[in-house]
Amino acid sequence: MGRMDRIHSLDDLQRAAGRRLPKMVREFVDGGADDEVTLRANVADFADVVLQPKVMSDVTTRSQEVTVFGETYPTAVGLSPAGLARLVHRDGELAAARAAAGAGVVFAPSIASSFSIEEIAAVGKGPRWFQLYLWKDRSVVEALVERAKQAGCSTLCLTVDVPIVGNRRRDVHNGMSIPPKIRLGNALDAARHPSWLYGLVCGQPITFRNLLGVADGDGAIAIGTYVNTELINPSAIWDDFAWLRELWDGPLVVKGILTAEDARRAISLGADGIVVSNHGGRQLDGAPSSIRALDTVARADLGAELFLDGGVRTGVDVVRACALGARMVFVGRPWFWGLAVAGEQGVAHMLGILQAEIDRTLALLGCSSISELDRTWVEFG
Ligand SMILES: Cc1cc2nc3c(=O)[nH]c(=O)nc-3n(C[C@H](O)[C@H](O)[C@H](O)COP(=O)(O)O)c2cc1C
Repeated sequence: MGRMDRIHSLDDLQRAAGRRLPKMVREFVDGGADDEVTLRANVADFADVVLQPKVMSDVTTRSQEVTVFGETYPTAVGLSPAGLARLVHRDGELAAARAAAGAGVVFAPSIASSFSIEEIAAVGKGPRWFQLYLWKDRSVVEALVERAKQAGCSTLCLTVDVPIVGNRRRDVHNGMSIPPKIRLGNALDAARHPSWLYGLVCGQPITFRNLLGVADGDGAIAIGTYVNTELINPSAIWDDFAWLRELWDGPLVVKGILTAEDARRAISLGADGIVVSNHGGRQLDGAPSSIRALDTVARADLGAELFLDGGVRTGVDVVRACALGARMVFVGRPWFWGLAVAGEQGVAHMLGILQAEIDRTLALLGCSSISELDRTWVEFG
């Protein structure tokens, strides 16, 4: 396996990815908004969910299979939508899609991905969600929804926590741009990461390929400007969600909800699932950690599928979230780290680590199936 031999945890993977990426890209991936309080809490608050083992329970066979919207998956982990994966590896989302298909897990490509949904669909045969934003121009949304359907996506995931982009101070300090520009200030750093630089210059240009031919403007910068000025939509309201619900007849999931009130609203308007998420601490700093928010939303017992992303770094975390009410959890940065280290193989390795950790945790907990988990297995206060 070579490069992955010494990577036994997602922490190892993060460190290895950090060594392969220049600071500007590493901090774009790992950083969060403002003081990064929510970013840190996402990881730290998992430690407050204390497992309650049930010993002597015959755990000879264990299953982490879960069923979501009629589909059964081998494990309760999926890959969160995260845009522009080409920034960390020349094969970007294509490699992630192959790894997800190989493991049989959900991959939810972002509307802001660096390969188009058609290109991603062509390589990965696995079950696939598609994430989008409710942008101002409804015809753009309509066209993308139709393309997602044609590409075989089963579930639409609407992200609702980006009325404007959060304040990522590290990106401001580093002069991070899309595509990244090599300037005097970062040239040395880039030169110290030759494999990253090679991927940057040898792959196709870094741009939002879902929007070529859909949004105006040619070239990455023009599209980036278009996205910021025209597509991001601070005026979106729940009526717009109701419009999308009419348009899409498959499962519809709302991502970026942190309160029971908002979850209730989304479900009353036809959402089939909620991804409890604060966008990995990249949007509203000071928002609750995803695991705390999951606890709040799950207690309201609203009857839709609950998912979580943000701060999941171990199989123990996956078990904790499932016990608090998540059907499945998603990881964002961890698949970028895997990608940065070894492309498809790196993402597959990351998923393998989590699956092994979940299996071991279930055994030690005295639980033979992840779908049996509920609040009786944890204390959280
Ligand atoms: C580099 C990066 C890009 C992201 N792009 C998107 C996106 O395009 N759409 C979206 O809904 N969420 C996006 N997210 C947020 C993730 O979907 C997810 O909520 C977050 O990464 C989960 O936290 P984790 O990284 O701690 O697992 C992005 C996250 C990262 C790190």
